[in-house]
Amino acid sequence: MENLSPCQPDPAVLSRCLLVTGGAGFIGSNFVHYWCHAHPHDRLVVLDALTYAGNLGNLADLKANPQMRFVQGDICDRALVDALLQQEAISIVVHFAAESHVDRSILSPDAFIRTNVVGTFTLLEAFRQHWEPERLPTQRFLHVSTDEVYGSLGASDPAFTETTAYAPNSPYAASKAGSDHLVRAYHHTYQLPTLVTNCSNNYGPYQFPEKLMPLMCINMLLGKPLPIYGDGQNIRDWLSVEDHCLALDAVLSRGQIGETYNIGGNSEIKNLDLVYLLCDLMEERSAELGIHLPVRPCRSLMTFVPDRPGHDRRYAINATKIKTELGWTPTQTIDQGLRRTVEWYLTHQEWWRSLLSQEYQEYYNKVYALQN
Ligand code: NAD
Ligand code: TYD
Repeated sequence: MENLSPCQPDPAVLSRCLLVTGGAGFIGSNFVHYWCHAHPHDRLVVLDALTYAGNLGNLADLKANPQMRFVQGDICDRALVDALLQQEAISIVVHFAAESHVDRSILSPDAFIRTNVVGTFTLLEAFRQHWEPERLPTQRFLHVSTDEVYGSLGASDPAFTETTAYAPNSPYAASKAGSDHLVRAYHHTYQLPTLVTNCSNNYGPYQFPEKLMPLMCINMLLGKPLPIYGDGQNIRDWLSVEDHCLALDAVLSRGQIGETYNIGGNSEIKNLDLVYLLCDLMEERSAELGIHLPVRPCRSLMTFVPDRPGHDRRYAINATKIKTELGWTPTQTIDQGLRRTVEWYLTHQEWWRSLLSQEYQEYYNKVYALQN
C-alpha cells in the first residue's frame, strides 16, 4: 500500500486529523477544499474507493498540499480503517462515502446495502475500538445523511423536522436510513460521540453528471434532450454545496453530541421550473462567455420521459434547529447558486468531458470542436 505514507503536519501548530470518507466524490471533495481553506492547520486523510462517482481530479489542486493524504480504499475494509485511525491518530471522522444515486439503487440495490449500511457499520465498529473518551474528548463521528430518509411529502404537509418519522421509499433512502439508525444506536449504547446531519439536494461544482443539475447543464452544452421524469411537478429543496460545507463545520464545531441536524436551503422548487431556470441561465451565461450552444432555445430540448418508480413527490426541510442552536443559515440564494453552478459547468468542460463514457466520447468531441 504505497499510498499509506503518513501526512506531514506542521509541528509548530496544534492540529487535528480528520478522516474524510468519500472525499473524492461531489460533496466530499467540496468539503476537503473548504476545510483545507478554513482550517489550514488540520490534517485530512481522505479515504475513497474511487468508484464511478469518485474522481481524483476533484482534488487535483490539493495534490501538493502536505496537510492532505489520499488513500484509495474501501470503508468496508476493517483492517485498513483500523490502521488509518491508529496511524494517523484520527480524532474526527466525517463520513460521506456512499452510493448516492436513487436511479442506480432502483436498478441495482446491492452496492447500496454494502457501502451505506455495512460500510457505516464497519466505520462505527472501528471508531468504537479507537475511541478513548478520557484522552480525546474532542473526538467526533459525523455521519452525513439525506432528507430522503423521511420519505415523501404532500403539497401542504409541514416540512421535515428532526423528529419526523422515518419512511424511506427508495433502496437508496432505506440504506441511508439504516445507516442513520446504526449511528444513533452507537451513541445510545456505547456513548460514541456521534453527530448526524440530514440535508436536502445539493448542487455545485464536481457533481457527477447523473444527477439532475449537472445532467441538464451538460446536455444543454451537448445539444442533447433534457429528460424530465413524469410530469415534472416533483419538488425538491436545493442547497449549494458550499453552504452544506459551512453547515457541517457548524455542526462539528458547535453541535451537541448525539444530536441530529436537518440542513436545507429554504428553496423549494418544482423540477420543471428548475429546468426552465437552468435553460434561461445557460443561454444568458453562455452568450456572455462566448460559448456556443448547439441548440437554442434550450427549452426546446426538454423531453418528458417515463417516471422513476416510486418517485418521491416532495421534500422540504425545516432547518430551524440548526439556525437557532448553531447559528447557521444559507449564504446563497438559489438564483445566485444556480448562476455560479451553470458558469462552473460552462467553464470546466474538460472536467465533465473526461467522465463521459467512451461510447459517447466521439460525439462529444465533435460537439466540443464546434464550440471552440
Ligand atoms: P457521490 O456519489 O458524489 O460520492 C460518493 C463518494 O464515495 C465517491 O467518491 C465514491 O468513490 C465513494 N465511495 C463509494 N463507495 C465507497 C466505499 N465502499 N468505500 C470508500 N469510498 C466509497 O455522493 P455525494 O453526492 O457527494 O454524497 C455524499 C454523501 O452525502 C452521501 O452519504 C449522501 O448520502 C449524502 N447526501 C448527498 C446529497 C446530495 O444532494 N448529493 C444530499 C444529502 C446528503
Ligand atoms: P436527482 O438529482 O437524481 O436527486 P434525488 O432523486 O436524490 O432528489 O433528481 C432530482 C429530481 O429530478 C428528482 O425528482 C428526479 C428528477 N430528475 C429528472 O426529472 N430527470 C433526470 O434526468 C434526473 C437525473 C432527475
